Amino acid sequence: MTHKAKIAVFISGTGTNLAALLYASRLDDAAYEIVLVASNVSDAAGLALAQLEGIATFTHSHKGISREEQDAAMEAAVVEAGGDFIVLAGYMRILSDSFVERWEGQILNIHPSLLPKYKGLDTFARAIEAGDSHAGSSVHIVTPELDAGEVLAQVRVAIAPDDTPEALAARVKPAEHQLYPRAVADYVSRGYDPEYLYAKVRELALALPETHERDSHGSPGFRVGTEKSGKFFAHFNDQHHGSQHIAVLVKTGSMDELLDLVEAQPEAYFKPAYYGASGWIGVILNRPGVDWEHVGEWLHRSWRSVAPARLTKLLDAADQF
Ligand code: GRF
Repeated sequence: MTHKAKIAVFISGTGTNLAALLYASRLDDAAYEIVLVASNVSDAAGLALAQLEGIATFTHSHKGISREEQDAAMEAAVVEAGGDFIVLAGYMRILSDSFVERWEGQILNIHPSLLPKYKGLDTFARAIEAGDSHAGSSVHIVTPELDAGEVLAQVRVAIAPDDTPEALAARVKPAEHQLYPRAVADYVSRGYDPEYLYAKVRELALALPETHERDSHGSPGFRVGTEKSGKFFAHFNDQHHGSQHIAVLVKTGSMDELLDLVEAQPEAYFKPAYYGASGWIGVILNRPGVDWEHVGEWLHRSWRSVAPARLTKLLDAADQF
C-alpha cells in the first residue's frame, strides 16, 4: 500500500473502540495510522492506552467554554498532528456546525443503533422496548445534523427475549470492534482507489447533457455530441505513462493558464504527457481533500468548450446578462 491515511481519534470514555482501531492499524498493510488521540476528559482510560502505545495525546476540557472554543482547541491539535481524518469513538460532545463544515466528509462516527433508527441516546433500551429482533451499530459520516450523515457500514446484533440494555450493550461492543476498523479503512482508502475515483468522475461527466463514454488509447474518456461526431471533453487516467497520479484530464483555455495552475498548485494539477501539449490539464484525484464540486466545474467548463453550439447557445446567452 502506498498511502497511509493519518487519523485522529476523539474519545471521552473507556476507549475500547479506540483499542480496536489502534491494533488494526498495527497490522501489515493497514490503510491508516493513528497520529493523535484527543479527549475532553483528562482521565479517559483510552488516553493511557494511547500513551502506552506511543501515540500523541491531547486533552482539553470542555467545561466553562463554548462549543466553538472547545472544537477549535481540538482542531488545532489535529492539524498540528497532521491528521487528515477525525474518527469519533465514544466522544460525548456534539460538534459545532462550523467545525463539521470545515471537515466535511472527513469526520466519522460510530453510533450504537441500526441507523436511521434510534438517533441520540438510550438506543438499546429503545430497541428492546420497540420489540426489535436486532440492535447493532452504524458507522456514518458526521454532518451538522446529529447521527444523520451517510451510513457507511452496519453490524447487526440479535436481541435476546429477556435482554437488558446493559447485556445488549456488552454484546454490541465486540461487534463494533470488528466493524469500525474495517469501515474506517475502507473509507480513508477510497480516495486512492481507482475504481471509486473513476465512478465519481463518470457520474459527474455523464450528468452533463448529451454525453457518452468512449475509450481512447486504453483509458476511459467522455465525449459530448453524437456517437458519430462527438468530441472528447475528459479523459480518466490511472497512473498513466509512469505518472503517480490518478487524474481527470480536462481542457484549459490556454497553455499559459495550464502552466500557471501547475506552478501555483502542484499538489492539485499537472501537465500530462502528450495531452498536455494541446492544453489538457491533469486534475489530481488521489490526494487528500479533493473538492468534487470543483472537479464538476472543470468538467462542465471542458464540456462547454467543445459542445456543439445547439447545446451551449442558451448558456452563452445567459452569460450576456
Ligand atoms: C460505543 O458504543 C459507540 O457506539 C458509542 O460510544 C461507545 C464508545 O465505547 N458512540 P468505547 O469507549 O469505545 O468502549
